[in-house]
Amino acid sequence: PVTRFYNFTLKKVKLSPDGFERTVWSVNGQYPGPIIRANKGDQIVVNVTNNLGDPATVHWHGMYQRETNWYDGVPGQTQCPIPNGVSMVYNFSTGEQHGTYWYHSHFMAQYLEEDPYLKQYDYEYAVTLSEWHHRTTGVLLPLYDAPNYAGFRPIPDSPLISGRGRYNCTAAPAGSSCKPNAQLAKYNVKKNKKYRFHIINSSGDAFFVFSIDKHKLKVIEVEGEYVRPTIIEKLPIYIGQRYSVIVDADQPAGNYWIRGTLDKSCNPINNSTINFDSAIDWRGLGILHYEEATNSDEPTSVESTQNYRACRDLDQTSLQPLQPKTQYDKPVTDFFNITVRFQRNDDGVFRALMNESSYVSQINDPTNHKITLKFPPEDLPKEQNSLILNNEKGVVELVLMNNNPGLHTFHMHGHSFAVVFVGEKGDFPDPSKYNTKNPIVRDTVTVPEFGYLVIRFIADNPGIWSFHCHIEWHVEIGMVLQLIELPSIFKQKVIPEDVISLCMEFDYEKKKKR
Ligand code: C2O
Ligand code: CU
Repeated sequence: PVTRFYNFTLKKVKLSPDGFERTVWSVNGQYPGPIIRANKGDQIVVNVTNNLGDPATVHWHGMYQRETNWYDGVPGQTQCPIPNGVSMVYNFSTGEQHGTYWYHSHFMAQYLEEDPYLKQYDYEYAVTLSEWHHRTTGVLLPLYDAPNYAGFRPIPDSPLISGRGRYNCTAAPAGSSCKPNAQLAKYNVKKNKKYRFHIINSSGDAFFVFSIDKHKLKVIEVEGEYVRPTIIEKLPIYIGQRYSVIVDADQPAGNYWIRGTLDKSCNPINNSTINFDSAIDWRGLGILHYEEATNSDEPTSVESTQNYRACRDLDQTSLQPLQPKTQYDKPVTDFFNITVRFQRNDDGVFRALMNESSYVSQINDPTNHKITLKFPPEDLPKEQNSLILNNEKGVVELVLMNNNPGLHTFHMHGHSFAVVFVGEKGDFPDPSKYNTKNPIVRDTVTVPEFGYLVIRFIADNPGIWSFHCHIEWHVEIGMVLQLIELPSIFKQKVIPEDVISLCMEFDYEKKKKR
């Protein structure tokens, strides 16, 4: 194992990922941000300098952060935000983990010599799928939160593949800067070589289907878990999820479309009141280019007609861990029923409730610059939506009921969990149908509309971990739980001084003057 050092400067820059120019929150001026490559057991040290003009943190989506809960990057839960003009060093081990991860809002791919599939591919690439809005979150969020828009999610302006897309500029409002025929993401391959693609849905609110015309996708990894190979043509992938697929460049040398298509049936649709001037083409495109091809014209290939389960994860039967998972087939020590629903408050404001309470971050109040990160679990207000886990190495089971007509994509920090049961509407969790013997283990999973989810994990990681829907709008309105795991052990850990100091000196105006 080695230590890998990175410098990340968070800053706003003007970019035109789909031709249309806007302000983008970037890492080192790039969008998507730089890739971190590391091996199992490596130490990752990232010096993050915040020049955004607003407080910020970085979350390392999917990393367990064993012994380093304070580097998990959840403002108000595991740290106070980094004020503008201030740096913070994140310093954590990849531990036993290997696979495909991501840092918000950008991405991170890892690889490993001990990868069981290492001999089956020659090169690897990372692909991010994201939806793109020409208006910044700063504009959209207040609209979404406003009483009369309640529940309507803004329609994106473009789907992006690896940060590139192509907007129809004739639809751009007068006065904006938009260049038509923007460059698409291009992946070069050599004939008869094999490529591992790490595919990451880094959207705020979009269900994607990934495919490459004329090429099969061999799924080998799901969020750090190597699985028995399954061959598919279309990969449905929801926010926060990651997969690795092997693609064999076995077709006639040429150019083929790579597709990141938004699944219309489960994305915000045109009845939304937040529809602005959206002229969206739902079919995001990229290019697979054979180096042997005699031209690099844009492809004319046609899309596979293979079916996939719309708005659902790949079936469990096609996702079997290479190494059978047995540790979840034990008596449950901590059990929680969790309901998820929406509610319109008396003032018209729309909130999401988990267990009848809507999560409010300790720092949502922008005037409250100086915050003390209270150490849970004592005296936490109900709005902190906490589940307390006291049984070391216990098997925790969460049964989640989605009492509303939309999908959610639930993600847990600090853990992967076994997906024991996913039920459609009316398909109430039935223990006789649970897969506890060899379930897929992952950290992000789709819950059907009015459906059910049963997951299990082992309480072996002391700290405060978030469990939330990864739809950006739903997080904002409180669809978040916090797990307070083994507090008596966590209490004894020493949080690094520089992390604590962010809280005591949150008044960033002062800090800047130093
Ligand atoms: Cu991508 Cu709270 O996670
Ligand atoms: Cu949700």
